[in-house]
Amino acid sequence: MSDHLRKACEALQVTPVRPLVEGGQKQVFIVTDPSGKHSVLKLIDLGLATDPAALERATREVDLLKRVKHPNVVAVETDLQQIGAPPSAVFWLEEHLDGTDLRYAGSKWPYVDLLELGLGVAAGLGALHRQRVIHRDLSPGNVQRLTNGKFVVIDPGFAKHTLRSGLTVGGQPGTRGFMSPEHLQAYSGSPTAASDVFGACSLVYFAASGTPPVPYKGDDAEYLQRLRNATHIRLQDRRPDLPEEFCHVIERGLHPQPARRYRNGAALHTALGGLS
Ligand SMILES: Nc1ncnc2c1ncn2[C@@H]1O[C@H](COP(=O)(O)OP(=O)(O)O)[C@@H](O)[C@H]1O
Ligand SMILES: [Mg+2]
Repeated sequence: MSDHLRKACEALQVTPVRPLVEGGQKQVFIVTDPSGKHSVLKLIDLGLATDPAALERATREVDLLKRVKHPNVVAVETDLQQIGAPPSAVFWLEEHLDGTDLRYAGSKWPYVDLLELGLGVAAGLGALHRQRVIHRDLSPGNVQRLTNGKFVVIDPGFAKHTLRSGLTVGGQPGTRGFMSPEHLQAYSGSPTAASDVFGACSLVYFAASGTPPVPYKGDDAEYLQRLRNATHIRLQDRRPDLPEEFCHVIERGLHPQPARRYRNGAALHTALGGLS
């Protein structure tokens, strides 16, 4: 067990059960308290020089999750706590979301599950948007599908941040394959609530077809060019079995021009809620 993990567990009076993500700057562990209740510990290594951008991101992630209490957004269970001064690591506890994220969720989901995914993510986004928070990184790793079939948005670590090398393309954060056209610096305007709508609809498209609408094929310049136009094979052509009205809602959410999409999560939720 690393020194940081040991100190974090001591401070929180929990015991590690198993790691979910290890090795990166953010480590994720399932932990248990003395009563047997499971939580998720997030531990961010700030290094000897106390990486200021990572510290700010963690502070913001916990602050905004504390403000947004909604069943479709992950709940935090503690404040942000630090190890050392200046801190060499920070950590917090979240509710354990029993299930898996969407990265390995397979494709060609049945309509009822696609509708539930769209409704769940739209409702979670609605709650974030009400607090004037833009998620900006709606990717399969950032939505958890619970064993009870519900969906929960996690990891708003990029919200309102523009720094994070490695995942940053064209000056904006995001995950390749799941960015909106306005994530690109050259595009006038920056991500808004309508960009999250594009992200939510990209996730539905991904679950329906196994590929995002504008897939990444290994070449940044070529991807950015295609993303700029945001042209894609229509969902109805990929999945002729899906109801036409449902495909229309998703296509509107994927419109290249943000102003032609649903304005925010709440508006997307209303549109999807009108379907059966
Ligand atoms: N509260 C949680 N409950 C269960 N699994 C989680 C939880 N938070 C994160 N995970 C899992 O850990 C992964 C990484 O967490 P995340 O916060 O997205 O980290 P990163 O900033 O590295 O993307 C997620 O993709 C998900 O599989
Ligand atoms: Mg993530």
